[in-house]
Amino acid sequence: MKNLLVTGGAGFIGSNFTRFMLRMYPEYTVVVYDKLTYAGNLDNLKDVAEDFAGRYAFVQGDICDAGLVRATLLEHNVDTIVNFAAATHVDRSLMEPDEFIRTDVLGTYVLLEAVRELGLERYHQVSTDEVYGQVLEGRADETAPLHTRSPYSASKAGGDLLCLSYHASFDVPVTITRGSNNIGPYQYPEKVIPLFVTNAIDDLPLPLYGDGRQMRDYQYVLDHCEGLAVVLQRGRPGEIYNVGTAVETRNVDMARSILEILGKPQSLIQPVKDRPGHDRRYAIDVDKLGALGWESRHTFAEALEKTVRWYVENEWWWRPIKSGEHYQDYYKAQYAERLEGSSA
Ligand code: NAD
Ligand code: TYD
Repeated sequence: MKNLLVTGGAGFIGSNFTRFMLRMYPEYTVVVYDKLTYAGNLDNLKDVAEDFAGRYAFVQGDICDAGLVRATLLEHNVDTIVNFAAATHVDRSLMEPDEFIRTDVLGTYVLLEAVRELGLERYHQVSTDEVYGQVLEGRADETAPLHTRSPYSASKAGGDLLCLSYHASFDVPVTITRGSNNIGPYQYPEKVIPLFVTNAIDDLPLPLYGDGRQMRDYQYVLDHCEGLAVVLQRGRPGEIYNVGTAVETRNVDMARSILEILGKPQSLIQPVKDRPGHDRRYAIDVDKLGALGWESRHTFAEALEKTVRWYVENEWWWRPIKSGEHYQDYYKAQYAERLEGSSA
């Protein structure tokens, strides 16, 4: 396993993973295959293209395009696919679910068919703890039932189930990871942490949904990437592995910490109308991946500190995104009414 196709590699986690793998494993090559939707951005890979020119290539393409997927796999002699490509934002899945079903379900099927036809060594599906739905007590291990409540999580669960079916029916060597919320460099500022950090830098309100007591397990993106590498090397085909810190933080406490790090007033927190179907708590058990020798390296406080610093030091990356028309339209649709003096 050494010639990787990283689908969705121009997005947040995929670009961090590409950089991480090329740095850690000098014998690996990586082809990033990405449609470059609003969330895909070649700025995320600028340094990678310069630092690893001989071992890195980029192909613009849709994972639903079976012909281009197949041609790319053959041209680059790919033996392993790591699939990050997905529509990923819950709030957008409530506005326009079709793209989620197309990419996250149909796209996964197209990739699995290619792996089956060409007999690749491994297909790895990057999934999410959101497929378990809200976990009000205790934590979900990999055998927990799926109780999805948003079109995003339902589409991701559909992708996972297809992967497992291709393993059972056709012996395709599939592994799945279900990661908790990632934070770190290059995260599109629609997700809560980069949204709150960049708003706070500009003294804009932090729109906190509902009562702010929802809980998430926020992990540093490179810890997640390390977990993915462990599963690629030591994970068993047909198996699922949760990846996270197994420590949850309330959104209101996360928002307060961001303001504290930046030295901004707590009054920037603005409670707004809740997200429909908002999952109250995600919580996973990560012992199965721990048994393969992996552990999370960053606490939430350390991960947040590093993340905030990165956005402070890299305005060149996020300012053009936030001032762009696509982002502005989305921000208005999602927040204009909510922020008009509304309160939870
Ligand atoms: P992202 O939205 O930042 O990036 C997604 C990438 O996929 C973009 O580069 C986009 O251009 C590309 N893409 C979208 N549709 C495509 C298509 N049809 N064909 C080819 N490329 C396409 O997402 P992210 O946060 O980096 O998440 C990556 C993966 O990790 C997703 O599968 C997501 O479900 C999963 N995940 C994310 C988190 C998180 O906290 N962000 C946590 C667990 C799992
Ligand atoms: P998000 O980053 O969208 O990830 P998830 O996929 O877990 O929903 O949101 C993380 C948490 O932050 C979630 O509980 C919803 C909340 N949130 C807000 O309170 N305000 C916001 O503007 C956003 C985007 C999210």
